[in-house]
Amino acid sequence: MARGRFITLEGLDGAGKSTHLAFIRDWLAERRIETVFTREPGGTPLGEKLRELLLDVDTEATLDTETLLMFAGRMEHIARVIEPALAAGRWLVSDRFTDATFAYQGGGRGVAAERIRVLEDWVQQGLQPDLTLLLDVPLSVSQARMAASRTLDRFEQEAADFHERVRAAYLARAAAEPARFAVIDASRDIASIQRDIATHLAALKERA
Ligand SMILES: Nc1ncnc2c1ncn2[C@@H]1O[C@H](COP(=O)(O)OP(=O)(O)O)[C@@H](O)[C@H]1O
Ligand SMILES: [Mg+2]
Repeated sequence: MARGRFITLEGLDGAGKSTHLAFIRDWLAERRIETVFTREPGGTPLGEKLRELLLDVDTEATLDTETLLMFAGRMEHIARVIEPALAAGRWLVSDRFTDATFAYQGGGRGVAAERIRVLEDWVQQGLQPDLTLLLDVPLSVSQARMAASRTLDRFEQEAADFHERVRAAYLARAAAEPARFAVIDASRDIASIQRDIATHLAALKERA
């Protein structure tokens, strides 16, 4: 059986990941592609408990601890959800994955990328997304959308320069891996963004 495809959605809070996940769900369902939708941190019972701790504004953790917890949850996610789905020929769409660790713990908090790469190699054993949709918005757009829609978690409440570094780290990763990343200007209207996403999904579907 052909292996499934692995798609990740990345971008600042408020970029539109959840919004466009619903569109991706419909696009794949119309084509009768069996798909698993998941998220990080999270995606397994243990991962969801770790997510609660990681997003709780009262949690105190050193930078390295935070990074290790992200990868502990990811190990579980890959073993129990991601690999089995891909092996069964399903597509798997994750709302955030390892690029977010490089962006938030690396770019945002200053953990050395080299250290994150050690954990990436250990936990992923070469596994990488086939397509990463980076929904890119300026910080002003991210903040305006979040202010309108929710109370802020432990990452969302960080200062503006933190989020500027997160965005820059995401864009640097996209520039370094253009074959995997599609950078989408997500400050536009939803229909334009979804036309772009559909183009990338169609290309992935046709890819051998
Ligand atoms: N392109 C867009 N134009 C206007 N509003 C948007 C757009 N994309 C998302 N939103 C709105 O912004 C808010 C945050 O979007 P959401 O999908 O939850 O972002 P994320 O999951 O990336 O944090 C929601 O209220 C959503 O309706
Ligand atoms: Mg979301």
